[in-house]
Amino acid sequence: MLGRDLVGVLHSSYPDDEVVGWDIEEIDIQKQEESLFRIEKLRPDILIHVAAYTDVDGCERNEEKAFAVNAEGTKCVALAASRCRAKVVYLSTDYVFDGNKMEPYAESDLPHPLNVYGRSKLQGEQYVQELVKNGLIIRTQWLYGRYGKNFVASILQQAREKKALSIVNDQIGSPTYTADLAKAISVLIQFDAQGIFHVANSDRCTWYAFGQAILNLSGMMNEVKVIPISSEELGRPAVRPSYSVFNCQKLKEKTGLTLRSWSEALKDYLATYRKTIDDPDNSEGR
Ligand SMILES: NC(=O)c1ccc[n+]([C@@H]2O[C@H](COP(=O)([O-])OP(=O)(O)OC[C@H]3O[C@@H](n4cnc5c(N)ncnc54)[C@H](OP(=O)(O)O)[C@@H]3O)[C@@H](O)[C@H]2O)c1
Repeated sequence: MLGRDLVGVLHSSYPDDEVVGWDIEEIDIQKQEESLFRIEKLRPDILIHVAAYTDVDGCERNEEKAFAVNAEGTKCVALAASRCRAKVVYLSTDYVFDGNKMEPYAESDLPHPLNVYGRSKLQGEQYVQELVKNGLIIRTQWLYGRYGKNFVASILQQAREKKALSIVNDQIGSPTYTADLAKAISVLIQFDAQGIFHVANSDRCTWYAFGQAILNLSGMMNEVKVIPISSEELGRPAVRPSYSVFNCQKLKEKTGLTLRSWSEALKDYLATYRKTIDDPDNSEGR
C-alpha cells in the first residue's frame, strides 16, 4: 500500500534519479542470500524498506513468520545496505508502544509493545540502529491509501453488504493517508534526516469516529447502523494499544512540515479515489 504511493512520489521528487520498486516477487527478504545478492548488485544510494508481514492478528498466530520477515528480514536488508554504504529508511509502527502514556508519544519515549507484530517491528528497528550508520526510522500508524487492503475500503465494502457495523471505540490514534506519508518520507530524505521520526496526519480519533467520518463523507450514514464496541467485545487475537497518538514535533523542527488533519486527508482521498474504492470489482484499489 505505502510502497506504490512512495514510488510515484519519489519519481516526481527525484526526476534525475532512478527509482526502483521491488515487490515480494522480485525480492523475498526471508531468503537472505538471494536478497543480499540482489541488493548488492543494484548498489542503491538509498534503500527504503517498507516490506513487512503487516497482518497484526496473523503475526499473533504465526510468531515465527512475524520475526522471520519483520525482524530477520530487516536485519538482512540492513546488512546489505551497510555493505553498499546505502542509507536505510525503515518504516516502523505505533504498536511499539503500549498506549499507557495517554499523551502523545515522542521519539524518546520507551517502547513497550503489547503484541507480536510490535515486538517484531521493534527488533527490526534495533537491527537498523545496530547495523547501519545514519539510518532513518519512521514510525507511522493507522494507514490507508489507494492500494492494498485498508480500513476505509473495508468499511465501505461492509456498509454495502450489512445493515449494522460494530466498530471499536476504545482505541485512539491518527488515521494516516499513505500519499501524505510518502511525501513526508521524501522530504525527510531531502533533509538527510537520521534517527527516529514519528509521522502521522494531525488530530486524533477512535476507529468508531473514523468509521463514522468515512460513511458520512460517502453519503452512506443513513444506510447502515454504526455500533460502538470495546476491543474486548471484538476479541481480536492481538492486543492493541488503547492510545497511540504521536507527537510529530521533531518532524516539524527538522523539515518545517506538519501533516494536515486526518479528516482533511480523508476527504481528499475519498474525493480523489471514490470511483476506485466504490467499485468492488476494481482490484487496483484494494
Ligand atoms: N498499514 C498500517 O496501518 C501500518 C501502520 C504502521 C506501520 N506500518 C508499516 O509501514 C510499512 C508499509 O505498510 P503497508 O500498510 O503499506 O503494508 P502492506 O500493504 O502490507 O505492504 C507490505 C508489503 O510487504 C510484502 N512482503 C511481505 N513479506 C515479504 C517478504 N518476505 N519479502 C518481501 N516483501 C514482503 C507484502 O507482500 P504480500 O502482500 O504479498 O504479503 C506487501 O506487498 C510496513 O513496514 C508496516 O509495518 C503500517
